[in-house]
Amino acid sequence: SQTVQRDGDGAVRVGGIDVRQLAEEFGTPAYFLDEADFRARCRAWRDAFGHDADVFYAGKAFLSRAVVRWLNEEGLNLDVCSGGELATALGAGMPAERIALHGNNKSTEEISRAVEAGVGRIVLDSYQEIARVAHIARKLGVRQRVQIRVTVGVEAHTHEFIATAHEDQKFGLALADGDAAEAVRRVLQLDSLELIGIHSHIGSQIFDMAGFEVSARRVVGLLADIRDEHGVELPEIDLGGGLGIAYTPEDDPSEPHEIAKALRDIVTRECESAGLAVPRLSVEPGRAIVGPTAFTLYEVGTIKELDGLRTYVSVDGGMSDNIRTALYDAEYSVALVSRASDAPPMLSRVVGKHCESGDIVVRDAFLPADLAPGDLLAVPATGAYCRSMASNYNHALRPPVVAVRDGEARAVVRRETEEDLLRLDVG
Ligand code: LLP
Repeated sequence: SQTVQRDGDGAVRVGGIDVRQLAEEFGTPAYFLDEADFRARCRAWRDAFGHDADVFYAGKAFLSRAVVRWLNEEGLNLDVCSGGELATALGAGMPAERIALHGNNKSTEEISRAVEAGVGRIVLDSYQEIARVAHIARKLGVRQRVQIRVTVGVEAHTHEFIATAHEDQKFGLALADGDAAEAVRRVLQLDSLELIGIHSHIGSQIFDMAGFEVSARRVVGLLADIRDEHGVELPEIDLGGGLGIAYTPEDDPSEPHEIAKALRDIVTRECESAGLAVPRLSVEPGRAIVGPTAFTLYEVGTIKELDGLRTYVSVDGGMSDNIRTALYDAEYSVALVSRASDAPPMLSRVVGKHCESGDIVVRDAFLPADLAPGDLLAVPATGAYCRSMASNYNHALRPPVVAVRDGEARAVVRRETEEDLLRLDVG
């Protein structure tokens, strides 16, 4: 982020603190999150969408009590998709009416807790769930606000999208084969459910706005069909998350105000041509808010030069703190941050300490040829889907998340200890 600078001696300072000092105090590997940057991104989304739209931060990207407090203070809402995320949100003081519950197989217990707490919306994902939520709401004597998640036949990937009639995946109810329309019929008949809108999420790490445009067009088309069939105009639509961030210098993401304008324009245009009042819009960015705000700091342990191939640089973490490279072939960059070096670049692969060869953090990188054990490496843009997808593989202790702000650093999620691990082992 903007607050990263090189000192005179070549060491990097983050939020005013030397990374060597951070490593000393918190150990490695560790995630360092720039709180000011996180808050600034929240405000940029909030301001871009304005008062007639809602921004729901997708908690799956990274959630902790501090994050919930920051979201609360910056006026964002929160999307949760499990009992654990719901408990974190409520426990840290997010007002229930600003929480949305997601998931394709929410348990009865998760639904009950959400309805009881009074969450602002539950996003319905299947026929069974319509009946389940209706039953629970009736039992609890409430009218639960719900949206229906529809699949619009858009598959979006990083740099491209495909509009198809069908999507072969587990989420939502398909527009194309009439399941979405049937779900609307069923929900409208149930007194304990209040249908407030239609939800669509088309993918993640997307740069091409065309996929969102097709999605918005098809969702508005459904609103028009609902008006024609039932005589009701639903007041809200949610177009999901999925906006891409820069992992490497080649990536060129849009700014929140550009995204807001594009979505608003297409929704307004489509509604006008269908003769519908423009519904309240919401979005659910996760990665775009938290992704760029954090980096992972590692210490180099061993270095192996394979003649004519590349140099393997092993760090003290790996696939247990960042599964994305192994799982999605994700690309990251890496930099030596504990000192300056003018040594020539060497083709390197940064790998972890786990027991498999797919344990790669950064597949191809140039690092200085004088790299040595004890050097500190930083991998930027690890704020989203790294700590939240971290594992205890090989009984690794999951790293802390340290918030840095105004020259001060504090762990908001502490490092796991061997006692934490052993406590679960009750055999
Ligand atoms: N809303 C819904 C309904 C979602 O399913 C997701 C992400 C989001 C919002 C937030 O999407 P974002 O803005 O963060 O792209 N683990 C994968 C990403 C999985 C995304 C799942 N759903 C990764 O590391 O790339």
